[in-house]
Amino acid sequence: MRKVFVSKQAPQKAVQLLQSAGFEVEVGDMKNAKNADALFSLVIDRIDAKLMEASPQLKVVSNMAVGLDNIDQEAAKQRSVVVKNTPDVLTESVAEHAALLILGIARKISQADVFVRKGKFRGWEPNLFLGTELKGKTLGLVGHGRIGCRTAKIMQKGFGMRVIYYDAVRDQAREEQCGITYASLEQLLKEADVVSLHVPLLPSTEHLIGEKELRLMKPTSYIVNTARGPVIDEKALVKALQEKRIAGAALDVFEEEPKLVSGLTKLENVLLTPHIASATNEARERMAVLAAQNIIKEMSIL
Ligand code: GLV
Repeated sequence: MRKVFVSKQAPQKAVQLLQSAGFEVEVGDMKNAKNADALFSLVIDRIDAKLMEASPQLKVVSNMAVGLDNIDQEAAKQRSVVVKNTPDVLTESVAEHAALLILGIARKISQADVFVRKGKFRGWEPNLFLGTELKGKTLGLVGHGRIGCRTAKIMQKGFGMRVIYYDAVRDQAREEQCGITYASLEQLLKEADVVSLHVPLLPSTEHLIGEKELRLMKPTSYIVNTARGPVIDEKALVKALQEKRIAGAALDVFEEEPKLVSGLTKLENVLLTPHIASATNEARERMAVLAAQNIIKEMSIL
């Protein structure tokens, strides 16, 4: 019987699907995976060459995530291991979360909530938690993939924002499809009122937003990250926020999760969520099913 090693926090639904397809399923800490034909992994699992070596007959690694940066893809290629992810099924949820973070940071939502909970609300005040109206403002997307495109549509149609984008490769079909205009990274950072990151984590996108890039942004602008923490140099970000060189940051992902960079939680002009952009019942169910189906399909043709 072929064996699938399933990461211990994976949804039960995935386990059931794999079992009904006739696989022997072992659930546990991914670090202990061995002699498996396939791995069902989560973003928190580091799938490196050593782990692959513990399963000499390994054929498939199926990641229940759209990002694949937790997997050593070169090592997988060398061993002819097929690597699969779960694109599309989480686009809506992640784009909704990006929209939520944009609105939340622009309207100081987390500070306002804490203020009420702490019993500090003494009645209406003309200048209490003044934020920024989004209509007519410019959203700058870094990355024009599915999630960036859906975020563009929500913010254009729902909130009347103008959307520009930067990506390493300009794509005119995508520009028409998403109603977005190309800008260089420098131009985008100088112009955007909100910068939202939607690139995968690659050697070329690590610290794409560092000290120099943050200095290009306007003091009234916000940065939002639902992509991967290391795309921003967090130390440089904290400094920019402390010095009020930008107006705020809303982050769902962090450089060394679950650790937070020193100084971040002391700042008022931040909105922080614990890597939950795809955390809706709908998206997580679809991700679990798709990741299990990816194993079933790949193993049937190998
Ligand atoms: C989550 O971060 C994902 O890549 O799906």
